[in-house]
Amino acid sequence: MHHPPALLRSLAEKVGTPYWLYDARVIRQRIADIQFLTNTDGVQARFAMKACPATKVLREMHAAGIWIDAVSGNEVLRALHAGHPGGHTPPVICLTADVFRDNALDVIREHGVLPNIGSPGQIADLVRAGYRGPISLRVNPGFGHGHVNSCDTGGPSSKHGIWHDDLLATKDAAARAGLAVTMLHAHIGSGPQFAELHENLTRLAADFVALLPHFPDLAAVSLGGGIPHNYKDHGAQVPMEPLHELFDTCHRRLCSAARRELRVEIEPGRYYVAPGCTLVTRVTDVKQTRTNEKGSGATFAMVDAGFVDLVRPAMYGSYHAIDIVGRDDEDPNMAREPIVIAGPLCESGDIFTRDDRELLAPRMLPRPVAGDLLTLRDAGAYGYAMSSNYNSIGRAPQLWLEEDGRVEMISRRETVEDLLKAETSQFL
Ligand SMILES: Cc1ncc(COP(=O)(O)O)c(C=O)c1O
Repeated sequence: MHHPPALLRSLAEKVGTPYWLYDARVIRQRIADIQFLTNTDGVQARFAMKACPATKVLREMHAAGIWIDAVSGNEVLRALHAGHPGGHTPPVICLTADVFRDNALDVIREHGVLPNIGSPGQIADLVRAGYRGPISLRVNPGFGHGHVNSCDTGGPSSKHGIWHDDLLATKDAAARAGLAVTMLHAHIGSGPQFAELHENLTRLAADFVALLPHFPDLAAVSLGGGIPHNYKDHGAQVPMEPLHELFDTCHRRLCSAARRELRVEIEPGRYYVAPGCTLVTRVTDVKQTRTNEKGSGATFAMVDAGFVDLVRPAMYGSYHAIDIVGRDDEDPNMAREPIVIAGPLCESGDIFTRDDRELLAPRMLPRPVAGDLLTLRDAGAYGYAMSSNYNSIGRAPQLWLEEDGRVEMISRRETVEDLLKAETSQFL
């Protein structure tokens, strides 16, 4: 999404740089896509809120009838704060975790949230915590993958879920503990191309069909998240119609095998929000290194955003479209050169243009000058959500552009007081 340069500059004047700019229209369009995918009776969408837990976004999901997949006690509390109801009928909030930490068990018990466990020993954790409600089991079905290897969510190298061979033993442990398994869940990752995604989801639904006789209390199966967003080519997004048909078919197959109504769930995260936010930063300088016996020289555009803001490129070489604000990126006659975009952190890996082997991947861009604004697009998923306070910089403000053109600040820039807030001097 390209925003008018005048808007980006005036916002930079008002709140400084860097800042995040959400676009309500784009997020609502993505919500509408998911509503289209799930507009069959018995198919329900959740939002994997870890992708973008801002209250504003959670409220949009609530208004659209989308349920929540949370991954921590505090995420559940944030969902409740945004208006999503607790309780099991229906289980609007589900808490998916391989490890319960901090307040997770208390929140599950107190708010009647459906625990979706990814490790067999968590049955004992739930029992110890006095939980006596329904549970969901997250399965590692042995296949599927993420958009990069480190995001692999299915297969022997994945830490997620209960290995499929151990599932029935875990079900028996749940039965001994008096916990009814009401949902089976698997998340097979958002990496595959459409054909592979389709094949994997079909295979997963067949695996669930085979498991049905062992789970008499089952009310739902979740096919997880992982609807891909194409960061490089906006024109090449997943086709919605065949995916809609697939979920409808999975639902019919599961219900007919079970001979009763079962709910099919999906829980995308990135798809809803990825294209709906731009990180806007300012170029502070352009400098050069020169070729020597160690390697080739490069041109570095230094910007005031870093991996404390958007960590995906530094963490796993993710690609984000980059534009110099005010230069027409569609003009074929515009002179371009390979440019590395680097941030302010005291870390040599603070680079936005790198590949998944941690090598510099300079981008062909018009040469910016100090003072230019630069945008990193498609930053709505795992963007602000993964930002940190490393180097004590404080998180940048989040702005929300409404469809009528109004811009609302939904979180302010963090100050040193925010950073010091949790510090204490307490002897134990
Ligand atoms: C259990 C679960 N659900 C949903 C998601 C969301 O994935 P995505 O944002 O790729 O749709 C993830 C991501 O890892 C996940 O682990």
